[in-house]
Formats: sequence, structure tokens, C-alpha cells
Amino acid sequence: MDAKIELRDLIKIFGRDPGGRPAEMLKEGASPARVREETGHVAAVAGVSLDIPQGEVFVVMGLSGSGKSTLIRCVNRLLEPTDGEVVVDGETVTEYDLQQVRQFRREKTSMVFQHFALFPHKSVLDNVAYGLKVQDVAEEKRNERAMEALRLVGLADWGDRYPHNLSGGMQQRVGLARGLATDPDILLMDEAFSALDPLIRRQMQNELLSLRLGSRVMIMKEGKVIQVGTPTEIVTEPADQYVADFMADVDHAKVLPTSFAMREVATFAADASVAEAADTIRSRGSCFLVDDNKQPVGLVTADAVDGATGSLRAIATQHFPVASDTARIAELFHLASEGRPIAVVDEEDRRLLGSVSPYEILRVLGEVEVVDYAPQTTEETR
Ligand SMILES: Nc1ncnc2c1ncn2[C@@H]1O[C@H](COP(=O)(O)OP(=O)(O)O)[C@@H](O)[C@H]1O
Ligand SMILES: [Mg+2]
Repeated sequence: MDAKIELRDLIKIFGRDPGGRPAEMLKEGASPARVREETGHVAAVAGVSLDIPQGEVFVVMGLSGSGKSTLIRCVNRLLEPTDGEVVVDGETVTEYDLQQVRQFRREKTSMVFQHFALFPHKSVLDNVAYGLKVQDVAEEKRNERAMEALRLVGLADWGDRYPHNLSGGMQQRVGLARGLATDPDILLMDEAFSALDPLIRRQMQNELLSLRLGSRVMIMKEGKVIQVGTPTEIVTEPADQYVADFMADVDHAKVLPTSFAMREVATFAADASVAEAADTIRSRGSCFLVDDNKQPVGLVTADAVDGATGSLRAIATQHFPVASDTARIAELFHLASEGRPIAVVDEEDRRLLGSVSPYEILRVLGEVEVVDYAPQTTEETR
């Protein structure tokens, strides 16, 4: 599939004569530090190439000063790249003239910054609808879409208020709503969530993620790409110490999906007999009962099997926690408190995919030491 956004050897250097010697040095393989020493120029983006497919949430991470904001601003030419190409839908954006750039920005992109200036004398709704007005969308239609965007950020009741009526975090969400309202092909967000309180931030991120296919993370360091991968890959297989150190500060439970901690599970139909299932249930500790659609309808624990006869249905409980495979492990914490295995179901069709033990949740959250998790091998004595 063709990439939506392609960056080809993108370079952005700040200074007096960026395109001359500094760019040449970079292309010859000099490090940004070297370029800075010799020429006094800052190579904020030092040769970045990547493909972002349609529908992907692509997150750029890295320490402060690593070039994230500069890179993002080059995509819609808010900053003029020094060298290399930005290609969107097969068109070379870096070759556009000023008028084409304006049209590209208006029709295909929208951008949300951390510090987002709202129009103080326009209502919240008008602020959100502004991008649509610029696109010549009729008033009724744009108010409708602005309302929808406000709903998405949890501010449906605030449309006729003014920015000064809102807290800083709420204003930030209005900025986000403005970005979403135009339903852009490309939504560029530079720390758009950082001013939000953690709970709201997670809601917003989940909302956004649910609109999209999947997400990848890119780790930048000194203007260069160190690693690109899924959040799980970045956490479990960091490319180097910088990535490992960086991710050490990130709460793994907030990054890793439930599927990461999921194990295979024994399943039976509800009318299966205790006799035929008992051995399996005892050895596994439990089993789930599933209906014809493979959706979980009951849990049978090993305790319940003792002395029982007849069908599994009779000894099953309907009280068991359920989580979707895409939920982050951190979101399962409250489910682990029940001490029962958590049924993991497909987000879409609610089919049972596996289960997560409460113990596993606690382990990932760092609440318990790893004692019996590693497979038993030869080193029994210690
Ligand atoms: N307008 C500018 N003029 C000069 N240097 C800049 C400018 N903008 C950013 N820089 C420098 O470029 C580097 C990358 O900055 P930035 O893209 O803001 O990083 P990040 O967003 O990852 O914190 C930093 O060294 C920063 O000081
Ligand atoms: Mg930045």
C-alpha cells in the first residue's frame, strides 16, 4: 500500500547559511554536534526518512531538543526544510509554491499545538468551527461538525461559552476539537495533550486511537531516527541504551496492550459435562464457557469442579472480569483485584481470545517480584 506521508532524507538546519556547508557536512555523514562545532549551525532534523501509511497514529518521542517539533513543522512546511523531500499522496509538498502550500494546509492538514491561541471574542463553538469556515463549509454544516468535535473532547455543553470561561485544560481541548472538526487527512499534533490532566489525556488518546488503525512510535535523538516500531516493540526490544533509558521512564503498563499479557485459555461449551472437562480445568486452574459465537458466558474454577457432576453450566459463575485486547494493561488493574482470571475479548466481535491472570497484571505493574514466571530450567538449586 502506498504511504500517505513519506519523508525522504529530510534535513532542517537553523542558522545563517543552512543549505551550504552545514547541509553538505550532514550529507557526508557528519553528526549534528560536529556541524554545530564547525559552523555554528543547529541541525535539528538531520536526515530523516520514513513512511506513514493512511490511518496510522504515528508518535514521535525523544528528549527535549531532539527535533520533534521541527520535524512536525516541516511536514506542512510551517518550517521550510533545508533539504530532502516531503511527499503526501504521491505529491511532492516540498516543491509546492506558496499558494499550493496554503491550499495543502487548508484542505489536507490541521495542526494542534500545546499552546493554542483561541479567539477570545468568538464562542467556543465558533472557535471550533473556524477551520471549516475557512474551508467555505456552510454555517449549519459547520456548526454540526463543530458540535460533534466538541462532544468528542467532552465539551458538548460549552459551545456557547467563551474561552475565558474555560480552564486551561479545557481550552486545550477546544484547540484539539478545532483540529478534529475539519476531519483532516493529516492531523499534526505537537504536545497537544501535555497540558491536560492525566485522566482526560488518556480519554483523548483513546478516542483518537480508536479512530485509527494502529500506532507506531518513532524515537528521535539529535535529529536522527533511532528506532521505529509498535509501542510493544519499543518497550520490549529497545534499539539502544538511549531508547531503553527513555522508555524506562514510561509506565510499561500504559504502553503494553492486554494481548501482551494474554495466555491461551481452555474453553468448553456450556452443556459440556464436568466429567469430560475436569482434568483440563484442574490442570489449568480454570476454564471459560463460550457460546456459539465464541463469546465468554461463564467461568469455571478448579475449586468448583470438586465433587460436582452434571454440566459445567451448573457450576459456572457469570461473574468474571472482561477486558478488550486493545485495552492497556494499566486499565486492567481494578479488574485484577477480584482475583479471577480476566477474559480477554476481541474489541469488535467480543470473541474470547484468551485470558490474563491477576498475577500477571500485578507483575507487569511491578507490584510483585518475578519469582515463578521464568520457565523452569536447569538451575533449580541456588
Ligand atoms: N527557530 C529556531 N532557531 C534556532 N534553533 C532552533 C529553532 N527551533 C528549534 N531550534 C533548535 O533545534 C533543536 C530541536 O528543537 P525542537 O525541534 O524544538 O526539539 P523538540 O521538539 O524535540 O524539543 C534544538 O536544539 C532547538 O534549540
Ligand atoms: Mg517540541
